[in-house]
Amino acid sequence: MPARSITSLQLGGKKVLVRCDFNVPLAEGKIQDSERIDASLDTIRYVTERGGAAVLCSHLGRPKERTPELSLKPVAEYLTNVLGKKVALAPDCIGDITGKMIEMLKPGDAILLENLRFHPEEEANDRDFSHELARGKQAYVNDAFGTAHRAHASTAGVTRFIAERAAGFLMMRELEALRSVTVNPEHPAVAILGGAKVSDKMGVIKSFIAKLDAILIGGAMAYTFLKAKGVGVGRSRVEDDKLVLARELLDEAAAKGKRIVLPVDHVVAISADEESTATVTQIPVDMMGLDIGPATVDSFIAELSRAKTVIWNGPLGLFEREPFSHGTMRVGEALANMPGVKSIIGGGDTAAAVGHQPWSKQFTHISTGGGATLEFLEGIELPGVKALES
Ligand code: 3PG
Repeated sequence: MPARSITSLQLGGKKVLVRCDFNVPLAEGKIQDSERIDASLDTIRYVTERGGAAVLCSHLGRPKERTPELSLKPVAEYLTNVLGKKVALAPDCIGDITGKMIEMLKPGDAILLENLRFHPEEEANDRDFSHELARGKQAYVNDAFGTAHRAHASTAGVTRFIAERAAGFLMMRELEALRSVTVNPEHPAVAILGGAKVSDKMGVIKSFIAKLDAILIGGAMAYTFLKAKGVGVGRSRVEDDKLVLARELLDEAAAKGKRIVLPVDHVVAISADEESTATVTQIPVDMMGLDIGPATVDSFIAELSRAKTVIWNGPLGLFEREPFSHGTMRVGEALANMPGVKSIIGGGDTAAAVGHQPWSKQFTHISTGGGATLEFLEGIELPGVKALES
């Protein structure tokens, strides 16, 4: 049975534990990108507007114990600003003082619990810790899609102790968007895959070969595929221990009548730090490919313009450096401007590469998940979603 939506819960007068993914980048205590927080605001507002008291919780970073730099204080301040109401930060996620603060909440209030991972029991999915986390709450909403691939106390264990539970709006949006690619997608359905390593995307490629019509491959992983086909790649980054696997994937796609489209030209340089670049169809032995070239961009855009569904995971070049960002940007802008194409953009690096461009608003959906999105696309059941269903 699919996860219930938050709209099925009676929230009035209840203390509602809302698991969010507020794992945002911080620099000197300042939030660098608020996208993940903003994406959960409708869920938080829904709880408070329906007369619930929202007890928000999240992890931040990967601390093994209390680490002041990883306090959620900047997030509490940000929420206070955007929600226009005080969102106090509790000193801990469990314990007597926090318990008292929760007890005193009135309908419509919101509070943020301190970083869940200050307790190792969170990641250990400890039963007693889960029980403590559930104490004094009558409903549970999981909106943390980005953390749904973790079976932790706040995403899985806690559901043993709160019967009234459902998915928040962000979780529902993510699941719906990603299911539209993996369950009966509208054809032609095309994937764009990039990033550094074939090994990270192996499961996803297998799943896409089974379900989609074509896979366009860029980024450093393209060089492993090209080398596996016997194409010269110079000093480009290659996973030599994955050449056999790459060959098998190419053969599997061919046997199933699916197309894997590889770059036909490249932006190359002597090294990744180099300013001086060239566009070539054959990579010289002393150079490395760092972006797809213009002919590849055109061939990818031609493929995409025939598609009805597109899923994109991984940048097509070393986008962090301007000379090698053009492939990713040109393909991204063209896709965003294609009418009638359902375009789903993976989180993590892909969202970081294109998510702040003005045209990115035209994509159908940009996922907030990194690892969670990849696991979902591989077909792995996410523990955070399963815990809501059972
Ligand atoms: C993420 O940023 O991908 C999620 O917040 C999960 O974080 P984690 O990889 O530290 O569990």
